[in-house]
Amino acid sequence: MKKFIYSEDLIDYDINVSNLIKYKNNVNISNKYQNKVLGLIFFNPSLRTRLSTQKAALNLGIKTISINVNKDSWQLEFEDNIVMNGDKPEHIKEAAQVISQYCDIIGVRSFASLENKKTDLEDIIINSFVKYSKVPVINLESAISHPLQSLADALTIKENSKFKNPKIILSWAPHIKPLPHAVANSFIKMCRLCNFDLTITNPKECNLSKEITNGFDVIHDQNTAFKNADFIYAKNWSSFENYGKLIKPKNSWTIDTEKMELTNNAYFMHCLPVRRNLIVTDHVLDSKNNLTINQANNRTFATQYILDKILKNEK
Ligand code: CP
Repeated sequence: MKKFIYSEDLIDYDINVSNLIKYKNNVNISNKYQNKVLGLIFFNPSLRTRLSTQKAALNLGIKTISINVNKDSWQLEFEDNIVMNGDKPEHIKEAAQVISQYCDIIGVRSFASLENKKTDLEDIIINSFVKYSKVPVINLESAISHPLQSLADALTIKENSKFKNPKIILSWAPHIKPLPHAVANSFIKMCRLCNFDLTITNPKECNLSKEITNGFDVIHDQNTAFKNADFIYAKNWSSFENYGKLIKPKNSWTIDTEKMELTNNAYFMHCLPVRRNLIVTDHVLDSKNNLTINQANNRTFATQYILDKILKNEK
């Protein structure tokens, strides 16, 4: 069964960012998959992922149907061998097989709970869809991975880099509530796949999983990390060690003009949505070095490329 769940799955489709640039440059709207249906299953809100995935599908002639699980449909049970006498009337075993009868490919968004480290790390929701679906599954952001975002990010870096091997900084930034690790994890994995020169900077209490950051420098002083950087990728994540805890450092980690001036006139990146003047100041976001809108645009091309590859492989 073909699937796209983690950045590593790109290898199965012989996808690299250079091929994606060629695909984007030759992209056209066609009806090549006009009999295909893409089901979009959302456990969490979305603006970019929902619309860019629908746009990508439209560009290929694919029809989409979607459901917001926690609002429109039955709550799903993911545990095996339990008496279902609680608030979840439908098991994923039935639900995934039923959805597979209506769809040729299924996209799933299911964020981390940040309450149960074990089930989050097992990525239980998306992997249960993979296990019980009869059609390919793609990841629209799961507990630990957001591979379509990182593919669009890598494309954005390649398109905008003035250098062959730019210096990229993934910087932690503040937030009002604990956020999952999926975007940061996938960005790091993508940098590894692309052989990008990446350094991570975050408060000491906010190190990501060592399994993910292995091989990359992690610096706890943001100003030192920013020196001579070509790209600053900002993101908040909660503590991994003290799982799901909101970290509030004493000094400011908000990205502002003063910090950007330490860089090599770096571009600013963020997956969006971004909280202005918390993650990053208005001045940085309103500058010509802001690439966040380009990143969001590239989500369509990254997703279209993956859908095309998967459906071609299914023939
Ligand atoms: N970046 C991203 O995935 O945006 P949405 O949460 O709006 O889909």
